[in-house]
Amino acid sequence: MVTILEDYIAKHAGSAQRYVEASKLFPGGVTHDTRYAQPFPLYMTHGEGPRKWDVDGNEYVDYVSGHGALLLGHSHPAIAAAVTKQIQRGTHLGASTDEEIRWANAIKALMPSIEKLRFHSSGTEATLMAMRLARAYTGKDKVIKLQDHFHGWHDYAMVGSDHAAPGIPEASFGTMVVVPAGDLGTVEDVIKRDPDIAAIILEPTGAHFGQLPFDAANYLKGLREITAQSGVVLIFDEVVTGFRASAGGTQVRYGVTPDLTTLAKIVAGGLPGGAVGGKADIIDMIAHRNDPDWDNNHRVYHPGTFNGNPLSAVAGATALEMIASQPINQRADAMAAKLKSGINDVLGRLEIPGHAHGIASMIHVILADCDCDRETCTMSHAKISETLASPAVTAMKRGLQNRGVDIMGRDCFLVSGTHTEKEIDQTLAAFQEAMTAVRADGLI
Ligand SMILES: Cc1ncc(COP(=O)(O)O)c(C=O)c1O
Repeated sequence: MVTILEDYIAKHAGSAQRYVEASKLFPGGVTHDTRYAQPFPLYMTHGEGPRKWDVDGNEYVDYVSGHGALLLGHSHPAIAAAVTKQIQRGTHLGASTDEEIRWANAIKALMPSIEKLRFHSSGTEATLMAMRLARAYTGKDKVIKLQDHFHGWHDYAMVGSDHAAPGIPEASFGTMVVVPAGDLGTVEDVIKRDPDIAAIILEPTGAHFGQLPFDAANYLKGLREITAQSGVVLIFDEVVTGFRASAGGTQVRYGVTPDLTTLAKIVAGGLPGGAVGGKADIIDMIAHRNDPDWDNNHRVYHPGTFNGNPLSAVAGATALEMIASQPINQRADAMAAKLKSGINDVLGRLEIPGHAHGIASMIHVILADCDCDRETCTMSHAKISETLASPAVTAMKRGLQNRGVDIMGRDCFLVSGTHTEKEIDQTLAAFQEAMTAVRADGLI
């Protein structure tokens, strides 16, 4: 009997070979922490729609979806055409462009809370700027963050994550207050006790786009009430959920309006890009007023070589205009629902403790059972995290890769508007085989 690991090594010789060279070039052999994998990560060559291919010629149904950026699948023809045309007209004109205006209008059309915005090159930059804007606007220094919520890798975002933080000054952590996710009482208490709270930032469907979920409908509404009463800036980090939790993000799905929203990934149509948008008077902390005292002493400074760059602008605008005018979210959500119920059926059939949960096109698998409604898992976050760390989860991921399915992180299927019944059926067959192999390896 071949183990999952032996099968992985046998099927991916080209990836193994590349990893030897990459390990001499990059720390850990990779260019993004979540791509680190043992004995080696997979090297991909190209993608099309819901599929991608590796250097050994293996084909995958892709649920990494460009770390969440590809709601329209790989190399969507309309986006490829827009970017190709723009690349011939100039990749950086060192000036303002029509393209950035079109891009901003496409964002505003989907997310009505955004009155004004600024572009960045990544989600990390967007959350850094959102926190800075909130501090400048309120004249206060501290930001509340929820335990385990991910907002990129800048110094302030790293507090309260499950990573140690060498290289980050203690002083920057001193400006952050970490609270348990989903607990309104603690947020209320912190704001009452500490007069220096500028803002609260969170992933509005729970940490890691719902891997550690909470009752979002009530929690977000409660946060809105508490922050409105206390003048604390409410920041939704919709870097992943933006345009995926619904076409207007989590805020439109649940009808809760934040003061600021951070965006990246889907916003730039599969190219690098980010944005922070929201209430005009907060975003206008960046505005010049032609008043030397304001401009030199009070204004929030914001350069950035690739802010609003024309390639990301045309890709982003094309994607968002399609999301606004076509049933892309509906298609992705319907395929995700089919996948979720199919995974639950397979686990039931194989009598493996586990379940799939999630909303919209974000489906998480937990190898432990519970009686949740399969939308919002009610297991404790500690228990979910403990379960995710098990070798069975690593084997599940590898077992799926061995059978032509690539998932996001350890547990997540991010479905695009290009996945069809064919991909879902293929995925469910692979899932059944992979879980059977995990059992044969003695891990469940
Ligand atoms: C919720 C959230 N915020 C911020 C970021 C950081 O975005 P980027 O990787 O573009 O810096 C991410 C990245 O995955 C994210 O998931």
